Amino acid sequence: MPADFVRIVEVAPRDGLQNEKAIVPTAAKIELIDRLTQTGLRSIEATSFVSPKWIPQLADAAEVFAGITKKPGVSYPVLVPNEQGYERALAAGAQEIAVFTAASEAFNRKNINAGIDESIERFKPVLRRAQHDGVKVRGYVSTVLGCPYQGHVPVADVVHVAMRLHELGCYEISLGDTIGVGTPRKAREMLRAVAGAIPIGAVAVHFHDTYGQALANIAACLEEGVRVVDAAVSGTGGCPYAKGASGNVASEDVAYLLHGMGFDTGIDLPALAATGRWLANLLGRETGSKVAKALAAA
Ligand code: HMG
Ligand code: MG
Repeated sequence: MPADFVRIVEVAPRDGLQNEKAIVPTAAKIELIDRLTQTGLRSIEATSFVSPKWIPQLADAAEVFAGITKKPGVSYPVLVPNEQGYERALAAGAQEIAVFTAASEAFNRKNINAGIDESIERFKPVLRRAQHDGVKVRGYVSTVLGCPYQGHVPVADVVHVAMRLHELGCYEISLGDTIGVGTPRKAREMLRAVAGAIPIGAVAVHFHDTYGQALANIAACLEEGVRVVDAAVSGTGGCPYAKGASGNVASEDVAYLLHGMGFDTGIDLPALAATGRWLANLLGRETGSKVAKALAAA
């Protein structure tokens, strides 16, 4: 029997670079995405068409999107917060977008200057237009296991927001532990509750590794049937509006875990690790992936 396939959604070019103090040159962003494309990844979140006043790091979204070499069979979703972002993404030629909101009202206010209901109202025309234009839409729910402002986030709130995004037409809902506070039992309980409301095949998980729990959380979610995992090469990332949020789980570490568990990812792990080390070098630090370090030392 062929191994079960798990799709890693690589988010370093967006979630990784949005949180860097230094602005990475456009050509380097393009090179990063092109290198990632060569590793066998099937989904690479390329950039975001948010307000450049809020996220100056990704102000060159259109240039980056135009400059990358798009490989057939690989999707390059881009983050979009509103209709204005949708128009920019469409003009750039995006065929897949991701809208984002949170299970916590307070976090949403800081991140997108809107409450949950208001953010969903903003997405409605985006989703209508995307459907008309044949653009696929992914949806993020942030702060699913804790909020930097509100603290505890009730599971029912996560389920409610995930259901609304699913009903609006998001083909996949990515559940984000934005500040990386989750632990496996809580992650599993939250996931089970969401999977009681929307099909597990439409659910992805997005863990940040602030407390070193991301791989354990992912393993628990895989046991529950999740087959899509967001990750960022070299463990880059974080949200500037989520104080204390450190990097995403490193894609190299997730690929190693998945291969070890017998899953197929289509990814060439040494090539991915080399790309992570290249990115870390560009950012002037060591790779944030233990697997990449171990492979380099072996
Ligand atoms: P606002 O200031 O309330 O917006 O921001 P506004 O509609 O009042 O517009 C203000 C100005 O922004 C106007 O320009 C607009 O034209 C412009 P002005 O008239 O002042 O010159 N503007 C735009 N420009 C370009 N592209 C756009 C756009 N929209 C408005 N799309 C807004 C509201 C949502 C725009 C803002 O809050 C924003 O862009 N926020 C993005 C924050 C962000 O990107 N955060 C990080 C991503 S989320 C995340 O990392 C979590 C995730 O990884 C999952 C997880 O970890 O949990 C996804
Ligand atoms: Mg994130």
